[in-house]
This record gives sequence, C-alpha cells and structure tokens, in this order.
Amino acid sequence: MSTGQRDTIAEPTAENSTTNRKQPFPRGFLDTISTGWADRPDTVPTAREQAPYAAARRAAVSAAFPGKRLVIPAGSLKQRSNDTDYVFRAHSAFAHLTGWASDAEPDSVLVFEPTGDGHDVTLYFRERADRTTPEFYADATVGEFWIGPRPSLAGVATDLAIPTAHLDEFAAVDGEVVLGSDDELDRFVSELRLVKDEFEIAEMRRAVDITARGFEDIIRALPEAAAHARGERVVEGVFHRRAREEGNGEGYDTIAASGPHACYLHWTRNDGTVVPGDLILVDAGVEADSLYTADITRTLPVSGRFTDVQRRVYDAVLEAADAAFAAARVGVRFRTVHEAAMQVIAARVAEWGLLPVTAEEALDADAGGQHRRYMVHGTSHHLGIDVHDCAQARREMYYDGILEPGMVFTIEPGLYFQIDDLTVPAELRGIGVRIEDDILMTESGAVNLSAAIPRTADEVEEWIARVQG
Ligand code: GLY
Ligand code: MN
Ligand code: MN
Repeated sequence: MSTGQRDTIAEPTAENSTTNRKQPFPRGFLDTISTGWADRPDTVPTAREQAPYAAARRAAVSAAFPGKRLVIPAGSLKQRSNDTDYVFRAHSAFAHLTGWASDAEPDSVLVFEPTGDGHDVTLYFRERADRTTPEFYADATVGEFWIGPRPSLAGVATDLAIPTAHLDEFAAVDGEVVLGSDDELDRFVSELRLVKDEFEIAEMRRAVDITARGFEDIIRALPEAAAHARGERVVEGVFHRRAREEGNGEGYDTIAASGPHACYLHWTRNDGTVVPGDLILVDAGVEADSLYTADITRTLPVSGRFTDVQRRVYDAVLEAADAAFAAARVGVRFRTVHEAAMQVIAARVAEWGLLPVTAEEALDADAGGQHRRYMVHGTSHHLGIDVHDCAQARREMYYDGILEPGMVFTIEPGLYFQIDDLTVPAELRGIGVRIEDDILMTESGAVNLSAAIPRTADEVEEWIARVQG
C-alpha cells in the first residue's frame, strides 16, 4: 500500500515522474469527502482497570518532586525507512504513569504542573482531527481515514482518569524537568517499577501463560522446522503468531538458536537450520497489550530426546537454576541469586576439567572468573514493562538491592560451549543450554510464574512426546 494523497495517481508520466506519487485531490473529492459520516461516541463508559494503579504511581512521583514541573514524553514514531515507521511503542515510564499502553498516541506528553501542595497532572495528545480537515483524509501517518479510529480528549480523560488537553496547547517551560534528560527523574521512575502492584503481577501472569502456549506451538512445529531450510525462522514465526493473536507482540526479538547458534547469546538472526539430534534454544516472551512482558527460555532436543552429553549439560544448568531459586528469599540481596547459580556453574565446569584453576579459585571476585567463559551473562534481571526493567535504578537498589515482595525477575543460568572453543572437549562443542524462568517474590517465598512450562530434561522429553503425539 502506498500512502496519503499520493495514492490517487494514475500512471507515471514524464511530468510527474519526479514527484511520482503526488497528485492534488480533485475538487469533487474535496467537496464530498467531509460529509456523509455517521456520528461516533467520543468517550468510553468507565476508566480502564489500571487507572487507579497509575494514579498511585503519579502520586508517588508528585511527592518526590515538590515544586518541580515534570514532563514525561511518550516518544514519537521512529522511521524504519523512507515513509514507513516502526510500530509505535510508548516509553515505559509514560505507560507506567498513565496506564496508556499499546494504544498510546505518539507524541503525547504527561505534564506535572506544580501547585500549592502537589501537582496538577495533564495529558497532552493529538486529538483526532475533525472529518472536515485534511488531516482526516490526507495524512497517512495520523489521519483516521488511513490508520483507523483515534481517541478524543474526552474519551482518554475518562479511559485513563487523567485530565487531557490538545497537544497544541503544550509548551515547554524554562527549568522544567524532562524524562530522558534528568538523571534524578529517570532513576526515580525506574526504581518506582522495582516492586510490582497486583495489576502488574496479573498482567505478567497473563504474558507468561500466553508464552507457554507459544512454546507448545513451537514444539508442534519442530518437525516442520526441521524440514525447512530456515527452520529457526519457522520457530520464530510460530511464536510470533501466538504473540500477536493473544498479546501485543513480543517483548523483545525472539532468539531461535539451533545447534551451535545457541552459544551466541543474542542470536536473533534466526536464519539457520534446525537439525534433528541438536538442541534448539528458544528465548521468547509475549508482551501483553498492557506492555508487560514474559522472558522465558527453554532448550529443546529437536528430535525429542537428549543425548547423554546434552543431558549432562542440561542438568548442570537446571541445578544452577534450582540453586538460584532456593537462594531467592525476601530480605536477601538480589546478587545472592546470581552467586548461588554461579557456584554451581563453577563447580560443574571444574569437575569436567574445563578450568585451569579450582572452582573456589574461579569464584574469587578479583583473580577468578575463568568459569564465566561458559556463562558470561548475569543470572537475573528485573522484568516488567521492559524486558530488562528498572534499568536506571541505582546499583544499591538493583544488583545490591534487597529482595522484596512484589519484585519480578528472571532466573536464567546457562552453559555455552562455542563450536570453536578449544578449551572444551569436542563432544561439548556446539552445545548451548539456557533455562529461564520468571520469578515473583512473595512474603511466603519465591514463586516461579513459568513453572507450568516443563523444566527438567525428563519433563521436556515427555512434553515433546505429548504435544507431538
Ligand atoms: N531475552 C533477553 C534476556 O533473557 O535477558
Ligand atoms: Mn532474561
Ligand atoms: Mn530471555
């Protein structure tokens, strides 16, 4: 499809070849296009479910920045190429503070205007244009004729329970504090997401449940993937279908890494074959319409059964994951979870004779680290609206922070023996395993939100056998 008024054109001629698709609208079109449309409601019956949660977050921001004018932009469309843009995705802090998620309008701005004892908050956005305007019928980027219905000021005010105003009324003010250019504000809104509320936890459970169905779809499609020249793309595509059907999409590009590709931690090229006898590492997460995402990895034997050596690696990773899970308790430091996993990883690779030092020496904070060649990434990160959530939180609140009820994070140890790594025996080369689960801290302990997705080697084999039936 081409865009805008440029679309009404006939065959290119010598005269129009430089302006190619551009042609003015004829008078008959202009005389008739604005009439003959039914009225439509400009509001919704009630506020959406997340509105009171977002209001509580705004109250926390207001209390933390007395007397300051705060500006939280949603961000703008980003050009992909020429006149096509990426799908719009609002800034995570904007979504968190407004409750406006996959349906947020580009260029919107949330403004906290200081008043005597707090702030008046207004959400500025580009209200849909009247049908008599060229924007309606001629603007392919925002015109409703092109992209479909857009909200009214009154509709959003009710939907999000925030006063609204047209974007044209927004004006920058000297001395205001703008998200993205103020470290203190960036940090505050990031740390505000460290502990999730009940709405967020429910959304993350939803994202995990849809992701589980996506993994089952992948297992069903493994024979098709194995028969395809780019089987990894088949796997990616099957998951994408589930993500789009039931959610907004994926929270990050799916990693469908078969055979030795599993050792490339961010393998998203996904153009390889899926070979029976190999493992395929799939790291994928559905993002709900609310923008909360899952982040789950399973490593599957393509032909349904692990070989002995694959199982040995798998079991070591599972042991590390279980040790990390056992260490995750309210009141301990976040990094304790990582340290528990790394103790197992170091012990196993030392036992297999891969290290030039003992496991204990490898775990020394200064002189060690030899085992990290085989697991270079961390074990855990916070998870939420962003897959790597709370990224601007201070180290003392994040890596050195204390686990609290309501925190959601991953546990994702792995072992990766690259195909050309001469430090490992040939039988290990090209094997990469990661097991990644999404964990919720509660008063009574850690809860594995993704526990329903089979984890042990035996469970995974039974799962494949059952699904492929
Ligand atoms: N999928 C990215 C990660 O696991 O952190
Ligand atoms: Mn992760
Ligand atoms: Mn992941």
